[in-house]
Amino acid sequence: MGAALFELPSPRALRTLSATILQLNWRQDRYRMKILINGKFVAKEKASVSVYDHGLLYGDGVFEGIRAYNGRVFKLEEHVDRLYDSAKAIALRIPISQKQMCADVVRACKTNGIKNGYVRLVVTRGVGTLGLSPFKCKSPQIIVIADSIRLFPQSVYDRGLNLVTVGTSRNLPEAINPRVKSLNYLNNVLAKIEALNAGADEGLMLNSQGYVAEATGENVFAIRNGALVTPPTWCGALEGITRNCVMDLARESGYTVSEDVVTRYDLYTADEVFLTGTAAEIIAVVELDARKIGNGKPGRITRKLKKTYSEYASENGAPIQ
Ligand SMILES: Cc1ncc(COP(=O)(O)O)c(C=O)c1O
Repeated sequence: MGAALFELPSPRALRTLSATILQLNWRQDRYRMKILINGKFVAKEKASVSVYDHGLLYGDGVFEGIRAYNGRVFKLEEHVDRLYDSAKAIALRIPISQKQMCADVVRACKTNGIKNGYVRLVVTRGVGTLGLSPFKCKSPQIIVIADSIRLFPQSVYDRGLNLVTVGTSRNLPEAINPRVKSLNYLNNVLAKIEALNAGADEGLMLNSQGYVAEATGENVFAIRNGALVTPPTWCGALEGITRNCVMDLARESGYTVSEDVVTRYDLYTADEVFLTGTAAEIIAVVELDARKIGNGKPGRITRKLKKTYSEYASENGAPIQ
């Protein structure tokens, strides 16, 4: 018998080879990612803004985070409405119509093959001088990034989140109204730093009067005796699109839902607490400031609402076509 012409690679070598091929494909896909800037697609590596853009120099601009589920952009019009409201509040005129903006978001998803993902929509004040005046900035930059996001690992969704009250209070409405989703997120970034430094998953922000406003990037709900309560926007909460959707779905499921002043006492003594946000979706809070919430496990109503929400989100939205 002659010797084999070549030796078959070992199973281990085959595994390494296929992992390398997968990684190369992944890198290539990332390379192919296209960012929409002012209506034109640019390769991710080449997508950039000027260092004179006031979005960079002053955090002067607005943004939205939007999810796509199952080939549809969820709550697209609501996000675009809020973007234009935020822009109006900071006297930033967006040079394209809301209809065009919606079409651009869908186009960015389609071009990047996004069926389930996350879109970051950014409008900066545009290029100006090194001075503060926004009136020198003639062309706002419109950026659409169609990508993906994961805020917390699956284990945090399974076990529930550990929340801590942070010392940084939510912006005063007379200073920077928290209803404006501006590029200046330092208020939230500082709060997040505090929460992470304290070893918690997320931070609870109070307003300057000591009432509960929201988490650093999510709205907060408490459930007691089957009734849901969330702080009103005048207490320093963003008018969350997930929040509004969850309120509607909870009412349809027969729960009482109210917007009312919430104190930490209300959260400590609630049966269940959860957070809502486009990026985080719905996540149970099982501990706040070392107090166990309810039985210390994600609650029954929270789990039910989470299921209702994900079913609703997978069936509704602007088709990506
Ligand atoms: C400060 C803040 N609060 C709440 C939310 C949740 O809002 P939405 O459900 O519209 O994503 C977000 C995220 O957008 C946020 O940044």
